[in-house]
Amino acid sequence: MVEFLSRGPEQTRRLGARLGALLGKGDVVCLEGDLGAGKTTLVQGMAQGWGSLDAVSSPTFVLVNVYRRPDGVNLHHLDAYRLRDAWDAEALDLDQMMDDGALIVEWPKRIRLALPQDCLWIGLEYVGEEQRRMIFKSFGKHYEEILTEFRQRSFGG
Ligand SMILES: Nc1ncnc2c1ncn2[C@@H]1O[C@H](COP(=O)(O)OP(=O)(O)OP(=O)(O)O)[C@@H](O)[C@H]1O
Ligand SMILES: [Mg+2]
Repeated sequence: MVEFLSRGPEQTRRLGARLGALLGKGDVVCLEGDLGAGKTTLVQGMAQGWGSLDAVSSPTFVLVNVYRRPDGVNLHHLDAYRLRDAWDAEALDLDQMMDDGALIVEWPKRIRLALPQDCLWIGLEYVGEEQRRMIFKSFGKHYEEILTEFRQRSFGG
């Protein structure tokens, strides 16, 4: 487990970029946190670190955003807020998204059964106006390695 206290949206984006650079095809990242906790802000950084030139937005009527990279390996960003359960997710073909890129899921608990057990899980919490606590947990060996690398790049050593 890795814990951070972010002191502003810029710092959250920087952390996101560092993480996005470590992701590869097939990787799944779950983002948990209340409205305004900073999930989309973190994704903005992740898309940048991933190497996408597309802008990150989260219009409430879009379920899946795709951030493209020149090599065609794309970052998919699913907002499961309005999905009821894993059955709803079924129709979205998550397997395809993981096959041709990586997948970030906001509100993952709604569709937990449609997601792989192994993943990187990030919890964001409001602490103060500009402060957010971020907790990173890995499930499975692959994500443990990503998190170890992330920790080293963040804290050194
Ligand atoms: N340290 C911080 N990290 C991230 N966002 C911050 C921070 N401090 C302030 N903010 C602000 O908090 C808001 C976070 O909004 P954001 O859209 O990222 O949240 P969200 O978790 O995606 O919410 P929603 O569930 O409504 O989509 C932004 O306006 C951002 O500027
Ligand atoms: Mg959001």
